[in-house]
Amino acid sequence: MGITQFFYRRIIFNPALKIRYRKVLVTMNEHENSYPVSDTAALVMLWARGYYETMPLAGTYLSKLDLSHGRPLLEHYDRICPWYPEVIINRKHFIKNMVEELIGTDEKRTVIVNLGAGFSPLALELSSRFCDPVRFIEIDRSNMSQKHLLYSQLVPDRCRFITSLESDIADTGCLIKALKTEISEPSRTRLIVVMEGLTYYIERPAMERVLKSLSDLIPDLSIVFEHLKPCGLIREERRSIPYRIFSHVRDYTALDRMTTYSEAEIRALLEPAFSCRYYDMDKMEMRRTGSCRYFPTPDAGWLSCAVAVRKPVME
Ligand SMILES: C[S@@+](CC[C@H](N)C(=O)[O-])C[C@H]1O[C@@H](n2cnc3c(N)ncnc32)[C@H](O)[C@@H]1O
Repeated sequence: MGITQFFYRRIIFNPALKIRYRKVLVTMNEHENSYPVSDTAALVMLWARGYYETMPLAGTYLSKLDLSHGRPLLEHYDRICPWYPEVIINRKHFIKNMVEELIGTDEKRTVIVNLGAGFSPLALELSSRFCDPVRFIEIDRSNMSQKHLLYSQLVPDRCRFITSLESDIADTGCLIKALKTEISEPSRTRLIVVMEGLTYYIERPAMERVLKSLSDLIPDLSIVFEHLKPCGLIREERRSIPYRIFSHVRDYTALDRMTTYSEAEIRALLEPAFSCRYYDMDKMEMRRTGSCRYFPTPDAGWLSCAVAVRKPVME
C-alpha cells in the first residue's frame, strides 16, 4: 500500500516563550487519497468549491480533501441562504487579488502570513505566481502538518517557500517569536498579514494584542482584516441571514460570542500611521462579477474587509 511519510516541524509552546520545534511524523495513505477535514473547516471549502474547481492547482488540492464532515452544516445553512457560496467566493477572490496588489512589482522581500489559514489554499494559489522573494507562512491551531504534506505532493519544488505552523494566534509571544524566525531582516522586509474568516473567533482584547505586536515587529506592514459587521450596520431584511448562521456557528463551536467590528472600530484599533481602505461586500462582488446582484448596497452585506497599510517613513 502506498504510504507517504515525512517529518514535519511542529511549533510547541514553551513557558519561557522560547520557540521549540518537535519533529512529528505525518502519515498519509495515498490510495485513500483524501485527508479528512473537520466539519467547520470543510464547510468553508464546500462553500468555496465552485471557485477552486475552476483552478487547476487549487482544484486538484480540493479533490484531495475529504469534505464529507462539512455536509450536514452545509445543508443546514443552505436552507437559510442557498446562495451563501457567493459571499465566500467574493471574499476569497477579493483577498487573493488584494494580496497580489499589496505584493506589487518591486523586488522587496515579502512575507505573507495567513493567520487562521485553515485549509485555504491561498499560499498554493499565490506561490504559482510568486516564489522568490516572497515567502508564505500559514498558522492555525491544527492541521498544518497534513496541509503541508499535501503541498509537498502537489508542488514539491515550491513547498519550501511555504511554512505551515501550528500555534494559537492569541498567544502573541509565541506568534511573534515564530514570525521572527522567518523574518531575519525586519527593516528590509514587507509583511502582509491576512485574516480571513478569523476575526469573529478572536476576542477583542486578544486582537488588540495581536495588532500591537505585529505593529511593533516590522515597519512595512499591511493587514487584510476581514470581519463580521455588527447587525445595526446591516439592512434590516438581510439581518436574519448572518444572525441565524453565525449564532448557529457560535453555539456549534461553543463560543460565548462572535466578535464584530465597524469600520470606525477597526480604524481606532490601528495606529495613526496606517492608511486604511474599506470594502463592503457590494464592492467585493463588483470586483469579481462586474455587478452587484446579491449585494446592491453596502448595508446588504455582513462580511467586509479593511485593508490597512503602513509604509516605513524612510525606505
Ligand atoms: C472559518 S475558518 C477560516 C479558514 C480560512 N482562513 C478560510 O477563510 O478559508 C477559521 C480558522 O481559524 C482558526 N482559528 C480560530 N482561532 C484561532 C486561534 N486562536 N489560533 C489559531 N487559529 C485559530 C480555526 O482553527 C480555523 O481553521
